[in-house]
Amino acid sequence: MDKTAADGPGVLPWSMRDIPYRNIDREALRDHAALFELLASASFIEMTSDLYTRNLVEYFRGDDAVVGWLTQHWEPEELQHGAALRRYVRTAWPQFDWTRAYQGFYEEYSRCCLLDRLATSRSLEMVARCVIETGTSSFYRFLANASAEPVLRELAGRIAADEVRHYKNFYRFLRRYREDEHPGRTAVLRTLCSRVSEIDSEDGYIAFKHVFTVRNPGADCARREYERFMRGIGGLVYLYFPSRMAVKMFLKPLDLPPLAGRMIGRSATTATRVVLRWRAHRAGASRGARRPAAALEQRGT
Ligand SMILES: [Fe+2]
Ligand SMILES: [Fe+2]
Repeated sequence: MDKTAADGPGVLPWSMRDIPYRNIDREALRDHAALFELLASASFIEMTSDLYTRNLVEYFRGDDAVVGWLTQHWEPEELQHGAALRRYVRTAWPQFDWTRAYQGFYEEYSRCCLLDRLATSRSLEMVARCVIETGTSSFYRFLANASAEPVLRELAGRIAADEVRHYKNFYRFLRRYREDEHPGRTAVLRTLCSRVSEIDSEDGYIAFKHVFTVRNPGADCARREYERFMRGIGGLVYLYFPSRMAVKMFLKPLDLPPLAGRMIGRSATTATRVVLRWRAHRAGASRGARRPAAALEQRGT
């Protein structure tokens, strides 16, 4: 059983008091617009976890184990991620009007976070949740690896550990639902692919748009600005994205036989590295950069 479930309702695995915000090295963050945009966007999405929880609770109504874990553990932990990131952003970039940007984000985002975005069966929705937690745990592991700022490394590391635990819980529920619903491997694969294609599309774009608009008053934020931003972080992603971990978590819901799982996992990890390398090359990243500071410097943001 996971740590939070064993600890009883409402017990968070760590507290914001554990994060030494006053020690943030602002010099290490100077001029790193991309890092700011990533963190502010992530804080918006995490802070809006109550919308997701409401939808999921409605969807899994009647399953007390799932609903209890969602409301007593998952939601408080996701909201803490948002609050902890918000505090980091406000401490590191105090000139940014977080509240105004978040209000704009919430108005737009709450209109598209609807029940009909959920999967057609409970087992497939658990597959979708595994994809989301794969994305978040990989993202925060990437941030922890890439950041030259020690407080951010610690915060991102703690959040990444939470997201991995969330994955394990959703996977545990998936195994239970799989016994009742027997979703075919093709349906699981289809769900995996459709959710992964959404990970860095609409949610990320809406968050980025509101961060950018408040940060750059009067500037027109077209989707190409978001694409520029994504291209700009390509070098960092290539250097620091935990490809093997992400691929392993992504493929697990397929429940492949061990040998096939290992072969497909190795091939998928290689393919992921090739795609990331190609994106990094396109972004003009230097192959020589290996240290976090060097990678951040070469961003030139
Ligand atoms: Fe989170
Ligand atoms: Fe999570």
